[in-house]
This record gives sequence, C-alpha cells and structure tokens, in this order.
Amino acid sequence: MATSISVDVPELEPSKCFDTFIDQLSKDLEKSKMKFDAGSTGRMTQDGAELGRVLSWQPGKEIALEWRNDDVTSKIIFAFEQQGDGTRINLSWERPMDSDSSLGWFAEQVASPFLSSATAKNFGDWLTDRKARKPWGPEARKTYGDPMYHKPNFYAILNALALTKDDYLLEVGCGGGVLLNWALKSGCRAAAVDHSQDMVALAKETNADALNAGRLEIKEADAHSLPFSDSIFTCAVSTGVFGFISNPVGAMREVHRTLKDGGRFVMFTATKALKGTLAAPEPMATRLFWYEDEELVELAVKAGFKSARVENPELSDYARQAGLPEDVVKEYFTGSKNNQLLIALK
Ligand SMILES: C[S@@+](CC[C@H](N)C(=O)[O-])C[C@H]1O[C@@H](n2cnc3c(N)ncnc32)[C@H](O)[C@@H]1O
Repeated sequence: MATSISVDVPELEPSKCFDTFIDQLSKDLEKSKMKFDAGSTGRMTQDGAELGRVLSWQPGKEIALEWRNDDVTSKIIFAFEQQGDGTRINLSWERPMDSDSSLGWFAEQVASPFLSSATAKNFGDWLTDRKARKPWGPEARKTYGDPMYHKPNFYAILNALALTKDDYLLEVGCGGGVLLNWALKSGCRAAAVDHSQDMVALAKETNADALNAGRLEIKEADAHSLPFSDSIFTCAVSTGVFGFISNPVGAMREVHRTLKDGGRFVMFTATKALKGTLAAPEPMATRLFWYEDEELVELAVKAGFKSARVENPELSDYARQAGLPEDVVKEYFTGSKNNQLLIALK
C-alpha cells in the first residue's frame, strides 16, 4: 500500500531544503531518543539497536529510508524537486496492510510536523530561528564557531570599545562567543547572554579558559530580561542581534540598567542596504527589524542613554584582515552604507 503527500517550501532551493530537512529529521528523532546517522550508509538506532537504514541518499534530490518494526519492513521516500524559487517535497511511504504502527509513528511524529511546518510562514520562521534568531544544530555551530563574515564587524566594535583590563564587559546575544574571546584578550572581565542553548554551549567551549579562570560568565537568557544586577558593567556590546529584538527600547533599557554611570554601549547592526542580499537573505530579511541611523539614536535616548550617535565605519581593511575574499570585500564591506555602529553613553 502506498501513500503520498507533498508540500511546497517557498524561497528555498532543493539542496538547502534537503540539508534543512536532514537537520530537522535528526533533531526530531533525537527528541524520541533515537539517533540518525546521515549519509548513504546511514542508520536510525535506539540504544544501539537498528530501527531503520538509508536506502537511497541523493543530496538535494531524494532520501529513502527503510523502517522496521516487529518484522514488518516499510519504506519512506522524501523527494525534493525545484518548484519556482522553492522546493516541492514529496513524501511517499509503502507499508504492508495493517502494519502501520511504527511507520505510522514515524510519519505522524517526525515527517508530518516537519511537513506541516513547511508552510511559507512557519517554514520561514523556523529557518530564521535555526540560522540566526535562535541558532541550533551542527550547521549553526559551524557558522557561529567561526563567523567569518562577522569578523570585520568585530574589529570595528573592538576599536570603538577600546577595552582595557579594568573593563567589565556585557555582551547581549553572544552567539558562538568569538567576539567575547577577542575582547577578553584585553585582560577585561566579561559576562554574556544568549537565548539559544546551543550558542551558550558553544560560547562556553570557545571561552573555556576565561570561564575556568573566573573572568567570564555566560548565561542562557533573554535580552529583554538580563540576569545581572544594576550598574555593574563598564561597557556593553551587541552585534547582529537587535534586528531580532521585538522590544528594542525595553532591551536597551536592560543594557542601560546594568551599566555603571558613564558606561558605554556599542551596538552593531546592518542597514537596509543589505536587506535581501546574501548577507541577509529571505526568508530572514522580512523577519528582521531594520532601522535608520536616526531611529537607532532615538531608541537609545528613549532607553535612557544620555548621549548616542551612529557611525557608519568603512570595513574593507578589517574584512581583508579577516581573510575574506576580495569579491566579498568589494560587495559587502566597501563604503559605509551597509553598517551602523551605535555608540551610546549612560
Ligand atoms: C545573528 S546571531 C549573531 C551572533 C553573534 N553576535 C555574532 O555576531 O556572530 C544572533 C544571536 O542573537 C541571539 N538572540 C536573538 N534574540 C535574542 C534574545 N531576545 N535574547 C538573547 N539572545 C538573542 C541569537 O540566539 C543569536 O545567537
């Protein structure tokens, strides 16, 4: 008996859709205490026992799985095909009559939630979270463990912060903790938050020495409610985060609250010029909040900062220093139209 359903995923080409799907499949199975080893010889296991295996593995095109339960073997196939600017995923499964227990479970618990989340809006939200708004999974760990395209921004931020060993720095939305790592080289102390469990774990790995030395703490927390006392930090930073923040004045008030008088806040954001480019592609671009320079100043003043200004630094030298290829330097890091550096004082 064969059954099939299909779902269209807009704005995501088949190869990316396939990778995303494999990531999600691993995560969903993990929730049910199963392990999925991807690849042409991949298997699904639970406590070491094999429940299924990969029959066909064609990245970007198809994955077929064999699923076994009580001597009943079923087959499930996911096919990915280009559909306009997106992908049509076709899920079909074959099972012997009256034997839908484990395959039915698989289809209901794993495949269906994925497929039903694949409506334009849900899928866009899910992908935005996974990639940037609340990153998780192996791909996100790789990206934020070595955030190549953010490194020019980090240089500009550190230049503006001018840290010394007497500073106590707060970072909001630390991702994989690379900026923290660079900042700590000044000899300062630091604390950071991120609301992604995966990013907090990664940032802790990246900064294990500073954590062990008691110079750093990293907490899983939301930017709108910082788990720190009033007036303790000499400076604060946030980069690539405020585009995701639903209440920017509220979040800035939190930064303001935790800063000492005279404390400085440096915040890096991308301008609308990058909206929809490879630096901020769909479906993420339309889910981000974008601000004009004057609007950022206004937010900071509303949040209580005594003074605020926005600079638009030229990043091409920093981008070369970070080892980015010349075409990327020219396209995204030359001129000052792409970035905003808010510098606010309490
Ligand atoms: C695009 S990543 C940037 C990470 C890092 N700052 C960098 O530049 O590489 C955005 C980060 O902000 C975090 N984030 C977004 N909204 C947040 C919130 N409301 N509270 C705490 N962290 C948040 C995400 O989990 C993610 O790690």
